[in-house]
Amino acid sequence: MNTQVEQPRRGPSLTLLHSIPIFAGVPDAQLEQIAKVAFHRRVARQTTIVRAGDSTDSLYVLISGGAKVLNSDEEGREVILTLLGPGEFFGEMGLIDGSPRSADVMATETCELLVITKNDFKRCLAENFDLCLNIMKSLVQRLREADRNIESLALMDVYGRVAKLLIDFSEDERGERVIRRRLTKQDIAKMIGASREMVSRVMKDLENQGYFRVEEGRIVILEKRVPSPAAAAAAAKP
Ligand code: CMP
Repeated sequence: MNTQVEQPRRGPSLTLLHSIPIFAGVPDAQLEQIAKVAFHRRVARQTTIVRAGDSTDSLYVLISGGAKVLNSDEEGREVILTLLGPGEFFGEMGLIDGSPRSADVMATETCELLVITKNDFKRCLAENFDLCLNIMKSLVQRLREADRNIESLALMDVYGRVAKLLIDFSEDERGERVIRRRLTKQDIAKMIGASREMVSRVMKDLENQGYFRVEEGRIVILEKRVPSPAAAAAAAKP
């Protein structure tokens, strides 16, 4: 399904731009320029906003909703590279190096987006060092995450990978580490390179071993360390 719900073009408010991390530190005069060229777009769940291989035309900032960045092969097998939430942006890679889109970005729920066209984005970058720095910081952060993912794929078993992913996705909530975002077993499987069945089994074992508990639709992490292969083997015993 690829239903897109377009809304009339209108610029974002300065208050909204102030709340978006890539615009942190950007002076108001510059934000006013961005407000003039950025426009809102709303897309329905499961809309492919950006398609791998397409030529690049715009940068997108997620105002609300969620999206997944994924790649797939000819047989339809998918790997999820990351999940994006409010305040995060995508589509910058093609704009920076001129290459086609590197991945699909699909809405996992209804999304409010802010769109800035390629030429406007490049002009904003040329005129604002803080914006360049914020983009560079995000790219570095993504590279660090990708390095950590490569490391866990190469060195950890599925128990370790599932536990690490749950810890990485958890956020501090009054002293507890809690996963609030909707995370399906299928999504976890596609992020760690395992089958959904395997992820279900491993999560059940980890829950039984007291690594986390599920309450009111959210996951509370109880053990913040990734299980060693020996602990994973013990958890796997019937
Ligand atoms: P672009 O290549 O233009 O289109 C696909 C977008 O997905 C890409 O820009 C990035 O914004 C985003 N993307 C690709 N790989 C990752 C990743 N590993 N982590 C976060 N975002 C990514």
